[in-house]
Amino acid sequence: MIQPRPEIEGISMYSPGKPIEELKREKGLTHVYKMASNENPFGFSKLAEEAMKHEMAEITRYPETTSPSLAIKLANRLDISRDQLLFGSGSDEIIRLLTRTFLNAGDEVVMAGVTFPRYKTNVLIEGGKPIEVDMVNGTHDLEAMAEAITAETKIVFVCNPNNPTGTIVEKKALRQFIERVPDHVLLVMDEAYYEYADDEAYLETLPMLNDHPNMVILRTFSKIYGLAALRIGYGIMHPDLVGHLLKVKEPFNVNRLAAAAASASLDDEGFVEDTIRKNQEARDYLIRSFSRMGLSYFPTQTNFIMVDTGFPAEEVHEHLLNQGIIIRPGHLMGYPTMIRVTMGLPEENEAFITQLDAFLQTKRSASKETR
Ligand SMILES: Cc1ncc(COP(=O)(O)O)c(C=O)c1O
Repeated sequence: MIQPRPEIEGISMYSPGKPIEELKREKGLTHVYKMASNENPFGFSKLAEEAMKHEMAEITRYPETTSPSLAIKLANRLDISRDQLLFGSGSDEIIRLLTRTFLNAGDEVVMAGVTFPRYKTNVLIEGGKPIEVDMVNGTHDLEAMAEAITAETKIVFVCNPNNPTGTIVEKKALRQFIERVPDHVLLVMDEAYYEYADDEAYLETLPMLNDHPNMVILRTFSKIYGLAALRIGYGIMHPDLVGHLLKVKEPFNVNRLAAAAASASLDDEGFVEDTIRKNQEARDYLIRSFSRMGLSYFPTQTNFIMVDTGFPAEEVHEHLLNQGIIIRPGHLMGYPTMIRVTMGLPEENEAFITQLDAFLQTKRSASKETR
């Protein structure tokens, strides 16, 4: 058999949240709630739907390679220059383009111990060396990350807010960290959940970009804009960096429907505000419920939350799957008794809490009996 490069052999495949269709088939269920992949349960903008219908007439033609009309609109919105933007097939693609373009085999890449797994995978694909720095209470330890930077370091990833823990790094500490990252190191600020962050301690990194040409900010239309299946995200960075990435990216990486929907979504501020408000209500409900049940959780600035049930995550996961509720078990992410749940519609959140409550009561009374 033909063998892959040695770098590929040790890599495991990305394990996504279980698809709704798969669980329905496996368990014979008719109704399934997916609260596992941090998607937007409130849908997407009607303006995006209209724009896609309109764009359908053009799909026999390849898209423009840099989505220029979207770029102009977004650049105006962000008050940056258009050539500071690069669109990808999801921000996932920009992560891959960054490692593909800048990493040499053996280069070190600093990241948090429990963070978005695509950083590590892409580093390994290029033969790079991931340096995973232990977290403190589910939060990046910026001091330790700064100390982990060596002459061999090529990239640092900061996921803010962090997936899967939902936490942010504090403004002042992050500002100091950004100042400390040497010029030869690419600093990637992954802000996939930027629009959800409402804490005063959250740092706006965009105004720092001009003084830090080694910084890249990643954002996406998959989360608050609800366009996950269309695959469109973007990076904001110095035009020279964009120039390098353009040579590596596939010419038609962002399809016409995605670019049209993203552009129309930018015009629908009402949809974004509505999602933020509903997400806050969902967050408040979940936090209140966890407190009532005596469960601890990481403070979240996103559309998901990690909670400690005190029981093996596999068991909680299995119980919820049997009830048609898909969440993410924490043992896969280094937190054996925690689960990550994406905030859903009110009825989804209530069903999740009811089932979690039922599980905990059964387990707690069983453990009392055996004492
Ligand atoms: C932190 C983070 N970055 C990037 C992504 C990739 O998102 P997309 O490729 O859909 O833009 C995700 C998706 O879950 C994420 O959680």
